[in-house]
Amino acid sequence: MRPLIAGNWKMHGTLREAGALAEAVRAGATAGLPADLLVCPPFPHIHIVAAAMLGQTVAVGAQDCHAAGKGAHTGDVSAAMLRDIGATHVILGHSERRADHGETDAAVRAKVEAALAAGLVPVVCVGETEAQRLAGEAEAVVEGQLAGSLPDGFAGIVAYEPVWAIGTGRTPTEDDIAAIHGTIRAALVARFGPAGQATRILYGGSMKPGNAKAILALAHVDGGLVGGASLVAADFLAIAAAAG
Ligand code: 13P
Repeated sequence: MRPLIAGNWKMHGTLREAGALAEAVRAGATAGLPADLLVCPPFPHIHIVAAAMLGQTVAVGAQDCHAAGKGAHTGDVSAAMLRDIGATHVILGHSERRADHGETDAAVRAKVEAALAAGLVPVVCVGETEAQRLAGEAEAVVEGQLAGSLPDGFAGIVAYEPVWAIGTGRTPTEDDIAAIHGTIRAALVARFGPAGQATRILYGGSMKPGNAKAILALAHVDGGLVGGASLVAADFLAIAAAAG
């Protein structure tokens, strides 16, 4: 399937910087690129980035949403609000939100349902900690997160992001990535049938221009979820170019 390279801009940048980065990504998103592109700015920057990408091939997403459609939830943002300002995707269950905000699998699942109801494509993150990997629990942890975080009828994207590889410059071996992506594919197919076969599974965690080609060539790696390197347009585009 056609790969997707997604940039998670996390909590970085000014409005001006977001606009410049969006413009640079847009300019580089040429027809020959072998991957679809998605950028996920912080909430205050989504609108201007979506405006910059309007009519272009680069999709825009958020990094979280609330599980409720609307209501008395001070400081939160609904999936419908994101849709209204031009987002088409939303990252949910990122390990930083699971850690910083105590998001459980059940909470993530409720957000995924809200995103789907609002017409957003959820990008659901799973991944083990270093202690869990060292204990030989990585596959079981990821299977448990998938079972708990994905609702019945799931139609979206899954991202495997080992927590210990995020922002550290460390990545699992190619064999380890291939093994866990195979496990994720098997779980998706067992639960969702043909839809699970067609679900994109992204790899995330210290993906850079230098390691992207080898990682993106692995079986059941259908793209990348890129943090730090997505803040430099040339690096983000180089990763996308490596998907071919
Ligand atoms: P880095 O690419 O900075 O390791 O971040 C990965 C990530 O968390 C993307 O969601």
